[in-house]
Amino acid sequence: MCGIIGIVGDAPVADRLVDGLKRMEYRGYDSSGICTIVDGQLVRRRAEGKLANLVEVLKHDPADGLIGIAHTRWATHGAPTSSNAHPHATEEVALVHNGIIENFRPLREQMAGEGRNFESQTDTEVVVHLVSREVEKGRSPQEAVREVLPQLRGAFALAIAFKSHPDILIGARLGSPLVVGYGEGEMFLGSDALALAPLTQKIAYLEEGDWVVLTKSGATIYDAENNEVTREVQASGATAAAIEKGNYRHYMQKEIYEQPTVVAQTLGSYLRREDNSVALPQFDFDLTAIKRITIVACGTSYYAAMVAKYWFEQFARVPVDLDFASEFRYRDPVLEDGGLALFISQSGETADTLAALRHCKENGQIIGVVVNVPTSSMAREADLLLPTHAGPEIGVASTKAFTCQLAVLAALAAHMAVKKGLMSREEEQEVVKHLLEAPAALNAALDHDDDIAAMAHLIAPARDVLYLGRGQDYPLAMEGALKLKEISYIHAEGYASGEMKHGPIALIDEAVPVIVLAPSGPLFEKTVSNMEEVRARGGQVVLISDAEGLALAGEGCIATIEMPNVHPLIAPLVYSVPVQLLAYHTACVKGTDVDQPRNLAKSVTVE
Ligand code: G6P
Repeated sequence: MCGIIGIVGDAPVADRLVDGLKRMEYRGYDSSGICTIVDGQLVRRRAEGKLANLVEVLKHDPADGLIGIAHTRWATHGAPTSSNAHPHATEEVALVHNGIIENFRPLREQMAGEGRNFESQTDTEVVVHLVSREVEKGRSPQEAVREVLPQLRGAFALAIAFKSHPDILIGARLGSPLVVGYGEGEMFLGSDALALAPLTQKIAYLEEGDWVVLTKSGATIYDAENNEVTREVQASGATAAAIEKGNYRHYMQKEIYEQPTVVAQTLGSYLRREDNSVALPQFDFDLTAIKRITIVACGTSYYAAMVAKYWFEQFARVPVDLDFASEFRYRDPVLEDGGLALFISQSGETADTLAALRHCKENGQIIGVVVNVPTSSMAREADLLLPTHAGPEIGVASTKAFTCQLAVLAALAAHMAVKKGLMSREEEQEVVKHLLEAPAALNAALDHDDDIAAMAHLIAPARDVLYLGRGQDYPLAMEGALKLKEISYIHAEGYASGEMKHGPIALIDEAVPVIVLAPSGPLFEKTVSNMEEVRARGGQVVLISDAEGLALAGEGCIATIEMPNVHPLIAPLVYSVPVQLLAYHTACVKGTDVDQPRNLAKSVTVE
């Protein structure tokens, strides 16, 4: 999603702005731009496509100001062309925006009626004209922004520069995050702490409705009612090292390999090794009184929710409703007072999930949040905050955040079961013991990387791929298909293996590889029967199972991948590895942009 950076500097800012944009490339974008103030003029440079194009433009036409704003754009309104790229500007004002201005049409019509000239198809340009109109009337930048913000509907983070005030930037946020960075005689604005990582470690998060005036020496922050407020300045903790690739070819590969470590870290904060018990953070509501859990998420986080439904129902005997955030918001769900609404998100900023969270809060739900960014909007609005400790995830396709989400959700389900008296002390110890086996099992799964890389050559030529799984491996089949689609652009579908005969079986022929996820265990034979139905119709099967499963059913498959023999509870964590690696290597064979796949954004902060 769009990335914003602004600097009120003591030295030329263009290079540092571009470096900041580079650190936000992972968010996903399709054009970029920069504006600085040089000799009392707004100097704007923009380019389609990758940042290298903007760098090339700047090489020929520099923008050497001491103050500036810059942006990576993920297109919503209008194609990713240079004329739609931000900053948008009038003679007086330049501005970058993340989010969507929902009421831009009537505002645009009104201003076009006043003779204002629009150059782009974006929703953003309307904001620059609104601010400019006030400035042209003789208002100060502060007065202009104060006048305009209440007119905007939708979500936004904004950074604004003013030609006649080359010593200030103004930022504002509603629905999209914005961070203020405090430097030595310089000040910064950024979409996230990572964008500002090498510039400063001192940051403050703006709250909903806040706006801020930045000068070289500091920031004055106002809330939505225009009262001057203070927001805590904290150590950012984001280091440039955390977002380096090290010896890996791609961030996604690095993040897949980090899983044994980060899952162990995450489990470490929810399990007590001394007595093999589950230990959750303190909260002030009674878990045993919860009659229903509503889980809401998007993308990969949604598939973690699907796995968790099995656990909550099996262990804690609590019924679980599950929905994509984008659907949940608009279907008027029944929410009984005192229910637990659980939101799962890597970023904690996904617009649909955040809106669903707020809807649940207004409707008397206890808000639980499983999130990887502890400073995110969702984290701040939670009653029960359950952080995953995956560290920054840069690859657009989520990997380590997913397995860490599973670890937290398994611990929560077990904890609820213990509290409800449905899990004995011995059973709790067993569950904890199995969860603690996960990091070693993830390592053992990673040992098969070379086999999977070799197998990717069989998958890369396919146009369609089918993934099958049963029980808690069914969501994994969906996740495997999603990973493949996201980064290799091969059409893939995940299906419950028993449901295949009600439709997808018609697709089976020798051109459609079928990836079967079947750890040995109670559902193994049933899954294998479905696999045989595929094979009987000429289907080409890749079986992912443990040694026992492969010995029983591996014969006749075009390939097999051996996983360690693990308890069913941790199978979803361990079997994530081969589906992630298979997608990764297939994408490498196809030569796609693994870390920044086309059209995708890391965190989708628009509806
Ligand atoms: C985007 C990302 C996915 C992610 C989804 C949900 O689509 O590309 O990888 O799973 O958003 O994001 P969240 O941050 O809420 O988990």
